[in-house]
Amino acid sequence: MSGTVLLYGSDPGVARRTARALAPLDVSVLSVTDGRLGEPEGDAHPVVGVLIELEGAAARTIIGHWRSTVPEAIIVGYVVLPDAELWRDMEAAGADAVTTRGRADRVLADRLADQLSGRRRARRIRLAPLADFAGRLGFVGRIPETPVGAIALFHLSGRLWAVADTCPHAGASLCEGELDQNVLTCPRHGSQFRVTDGERLRGPADLALATFPVIMDAGEAFVELPPSTTLHGG
Ligand code: FES
Repeated sequence: MSGTVLLYGSDPGVARRTARALAPLDVSVLSVTDGRLGEPEGDAHPVVGVLIELEGAAARTIIGHWRSTVPEAIIVGYVVLPDAELWRDMEAAGADAVTTRGRADRVLADRLADQLSGRRRARRIRLAPLADFAGRLGFVGRIPETPVGAIALFHLSGRLWAVADTCPHAGASLCEGELDQNVLTCPRHGSQFRVTDGERLRGPADLALATFPVIMDAGEAFVELPPSTTLHGG
């Protein structure tokens, strides 16, 4: 065996399908029925992944724990009932992917296969249906907690743009700054950045702003984070 996936959930069908999907990868499945955190004891293999039913009360804690203690583990959450807010919260909490119960085994197996073969996929955070942004221009939202810190969203020139919300000079929240066309001015000391590519246009900041791709998929908008992203700040 090359590793163990911890399964937090009570559905025997998910456990069965996951064990079947992971067998070709030489990865075993260990059901954790008591919500326990910590490395499995005995001769279990290192944790390479976590599959978790998100309706469970402690889901956020469990995701945060494994994201920070085994940053390279693939964490996939699944929802039993569609709940866009829960979905987005758990992606922001550090899950690599969120899916439905019926697809959970496949999504986890695909992600693990990528990782074991050295490929890493970008992580996505769901924003909202695209229609929610129609008719709103300029600053349209802030995602407060992501593995790369807060992200500010802008709707300009018919597209969504995602940039780091934290000014690289002294950490002010840029979404509180002024936007003039595509130029964002930091509210604290006046550094200016171009929202569409993060370019620094005026100091005192001496770094550009991090930018993140915004992807449209089936009418939904997602921000893509770099594949190597690990949690910062919990
Ligand atoms: S904190 Fe933004 S310019 Fe100083």
